[in-house]
Amino acid sequence: MGLHASAEKLGELERLDAPAEAAAKAVQQVVGRGAVKDLLSGARLGHPLHPLLTDLPIGMLAGATALDLLAKQRGEHAADVLVGLGLLSALPTAAAGAADWSDSYGPDQRVGAVHAIANVIGLGLYGWSLRARGRGDRRTGTALGLAGMTSMAVGGYLGGYLSHSRGVGVNNAFYQHAPADWTAVLDEAELPEGTSARAAAGDATVLLYRANGQIHAIGSRCSHAGGPLDEGEIDAANRTVTCPWHRSIFRLEDGSVVHGPASVPQAAYETRTEGGQIEIRLRR
Ligand code: FES
Repeated sequence: MGLHASAEKLGELERLDAPAEAAAKAVQQVVGRGAVKDLLSGARLGHPLHPLLTDLPIGMLAGATALDLLAKQRGEHAADVLVGLGLLSALPTAAAGAADWSDSYGPDQRVGAVHAIANVIGLGLYGWSLRARGRGDRRTGTALGLAGMTSMAVGGYLGGYLSHSRGVGVNNAFYQHAPADWTAVLDEAELPEGTSARAAAGDATVLLYRANGQIHAIGSRCSHAGGPLDEGEIDAANRTVTCPWHRSIFRLEDGSVVHGPASVPQAAYETRTEGGQIEIRLRR
């Protein structure tokens, strides 16, 4: 069976649901929905944090194993330092990954759980390797590092599968091609003061909201995981909308992220009314 098919099979293992859901709930309770979640999800960066950080532990631990195998005595000190730094950098990386994973469901949650387990096993083996190195047992340290890298390669593949095959952690609104020229989307009478509506504009769907005579328009498909913002809660005082799926909050005026887990802003549109029609175009 190929790698892709194996990952698909993992996603069908419903027996993983009970422990995965309990663990996800525990992570949600620890992380909450405020500043810590924003930090770990990358809401302030405009980019998910976890994939940015994964290069550090993977790069350093792989570098250590390469030195173990290729530079032997000359590379001993550097390899040991890299193992220590790789393990340290794995802590924030795992925290960011756990925060992202806690918002997943079904196959994504199952594969994500196995991704995490493979990486935790890999890190445990590197930790054991560090102890062996401290005792001067290079042979055991090298072997444990190699086993750790093998386990992390499995974890890394599953992380890539989640992103590239299942669209986890990517901007889910990217392929909504928004109109760059003025496009009529709704009869003005269908959007009275203080109300919101969903409209289609080319390939894109848009959330419209009218307040104080001003019409706001942002993409209605949530950048985080594709949730329908037009079914979300609108906070009229703060001019924000909360996604009904994982409660990311976006500003209606410009689509910016107020709170994660979303890290990418929504498309924002200019609006005008012409001949009784609301028209929009992508804000430049
Ligand atoms: S889909 Fe997750 S916050 Fe909107």
